[in-house]
Amino acid sequence: MKIVSFLGSPRPSGNTEVLLEEALKPAEEARHEITLFKLNLMRIKPCQDCGSCEKTGKCIIDDDMNEIYPAIREADRIILASPIFFFALSAQTKTMIDRCQAFWCEKYLMKQTIPEGPYGRKGLLMVVGGMKKDIGVHCSEATTKAFFRTVSVPLHETLSFLGVDAKGAILEHPTALRDAREAGKKLIAV
Ligand SMILES: Cc1cc2nc3c(=O)[nH]c(=O)nc-3n(C[C@H](O)[C@H](O)[C@H](O)COP(=O)(O)O)c2cc1C
Repeated sequence: MKIVSFLGSPRPSGNTEVLLEEALKPAEEARHEITLFKLNLMRIKPCQDCGSCEKTGKCIIDDDMNEIYPAIREADRIILASPIFFFALSAQTKTMIDRCQAFWCEKYLMKQTIPEGPYGRKGLLMVVGGMKKDIGVHCSEATTKAFFRTVSVPLHETLSFLGVDAKGAILEHPTALRDAREAGKKLIAV
């Protein structure tokens, strides 16, 4: 099974990264093929709305999305992990998602869905916010739903942790690591 994961936090070893590592453990133990994209370290230009993908389903920008497009296409499972910034997904995460407009054109204009493999396609969203306001979860969820459906992932689960702010604070959360591991386990169940 191919697991493609996206880390949307710029903070190395921050709360999102800790959660993502935990969620990936069951897949590692099952020796699945894991790809981790640390979006903050990648060269990804925001969508320019040039319209090229409307005709071809392909993006003409030549940058690190070149690695991400085929990974998304071949994935059996996709994990999106992001901190909540200004009540939404981080810019790193959103920039990658916007560039999936090419997949949107492929699916909705060219009427071609990404074919699924023998395990189907499923997703997991994990978000961490420092405040205890759930509007950031709702906004992140709305964007993520649009992303997953665009890349032909019909089902996803969402795990959110609020009131987790300082670097490493997630380690003190009573259930977060266990929840992330359980979500990772459920994600790869067939
Ligand atoms: C630019 C910025 C904006 C933020 N906006 C929010 C917010 O709107 N809501 C919230 O709950 N936390 C917000 N936070 C706090 C982060 O979500 C929180 O610190 C989180 O634990 C960071 O995760 P990380 O360690 O993986 O980067 C913000 C932090 C930054 C740096």
